[in-house]
Amino acid sequence: MSDRHSDAFVFYGATGDLAFKKIFPALQSMVKSGVLDMPVVGVARRGWSLEKLQARARDSIETQGGGVDAVAFPKLMGLLRYVEGEYSDPETFQSLRRALGNAKSPLQYMAVPQELFETVFRQLYSGSCDAGGRLVLEKPFGHDLASARHLNALMHSCIKEEDIFRIDHYLGKEAVQNLVFFRFANSFLEPIWNRRYVESVQITMAEDFGVKGRGKFYDGTGAIRDVVQNHLLQVLSNIAMEPPPLSSDSETLRDEKVKVLKSIKPPSPCDVIRGRFRGYLDEVGVSPDSRTETYAALRLEVDNWRWEGVPFYIRAGKYMPVTRTEVIVKLRTPPPVLPGLVLSSNYVRFRLSPGTVIAMGASVREPGLSQRGHDLELVATHEHEGSDRDPYAEILGDAIRGETYRFARMDYVEQAWRIVDPLLGDAPLPDDYEAGSWGPPSAAAMVPGGWFEPRSDGYGSLEG
Ligand code: BG6
Repeated sequence: MSDRHSDAFVFYGATGDLAFKKIFPALQSMVKSGVLDMPVVGVARRGWSLEKLQARARDSIETQGGGVDAVAFPKLMGLLRYVEGEYSDPETFQSLRRALGNAKSPLQYMAVPQELFETVFRQLYSGSCDAGGRLVLEKPFGHDLASARHLNALMHSCIKEEDIFRIDHYLGKEAVQNLVFFRFANSFLEPIWNRRYVESVQITMAEDFGVKGRGKFYDGTGAIRDVVQNHLLQVLSNIAMEPPPLSSDSETLRDEKVKVLKSIKPPSPCDVIRGRFRGYLDEVGVSPDSRTETYAALRLEVDNWRWEGVPFYIRAGKYMPVTRTEVIVKLRTPPPVLPGLVLSSNYVRFRLSPGTVIAMGASVREPGLSQRGHDLELVATHEHEGSDRDPYAEILGDAIRGETYRFARMDYVEQAWRIVDPLLGDAPLPDDYEAGSWGPPSAAAMVPGGWFEPRSDGYGSLEG
């Protein structure tokens, strides 16, 4: 083990929703691949026993993680310990120290709502900073720019930035990594990847479900904090960034992403549409006078030499017609090759979730006598749903090894908040939309030529 390698895995929020949906399946996957072979300590305040946590882990892996593995699951159960107690109670942390035994560099993963980060942190490092190890923090990191700055300053009072891992699980997705790779590994793209050839960029994160029992969390969060500030700005920076200088320094990649965000001004109110699906106020945990958006569409500009004047449209919504995250890089339409012939735009399409698709929209002449164009897609890669490696296992594995490049750095997170900060706070009431539609009608007019509507069959089309 290198000195950057953790020797224990602690996760707070062990009885919670995130642990159930994502962490237990990731733990099994990491045991299976040999990444995780150290004490795993779940901490929670529900009055559970280790046996109950083990049963929960089994249920989680059976229902969310593709089933228990005959070898990895018993091994994980052998590594798992449970510490019970309030996060504000020093006794909880004494029990934790006992459970950690001789571990010197534990990874401390705060899989709890961000308003509890400070409480856990203060107990963990109470009076001194010698608890050591590294911190992994769930998104959203903070609630706005001011709270993110406060948390960053607090964490830095004891921990170096290189030991802080702010999660954005989109960075563990195979397709997001492929997006960056494809951009820089193919010389036919670089000459056109700029304002001269690109007319606009669209990023859609559509989900065909609602808040799934997370009403209380979601109502305090909303689409902009939940996915725009993190997942979608990460996708945008991957599309827009310059190639990092060749160096073994993993910070160069993160430097380039920060530069992209620094080039983005917060959108003006006319460049933002907020929506809310009908029925949202009836969800359990949602306040009757809620103003929280379940849909957001933004028009942003990356004000730098490469992208000046190119609009980046971002939208995210619950209860959309399909569950798809896609990027469309729409190229400028060429002049007509024949009188009267109207060509549609070429584009590059990246399906980021579920599965991976990289495709290029092209026009060919229709056979026969007519002089008509026919649109088709050239599909460079098409990996089906279910072929993805578990993004949580990927990034938690990085954190165990001390590799930071797939995590959000302090300056990045603050820049991301700076962009959306003016949209938070006293926002107007969102426009209503029907569940199962593409959001409020007002959003349709935002994009000249229309949004690209990802379809559920693996391919897509531009709809005006
Ligand atoms: C989470 C959001 O970060 O990402 C959820 O809190 C969202 O609201 C989820 O549903 C989507 O992630 P994935 O990997 O399922 O596309």
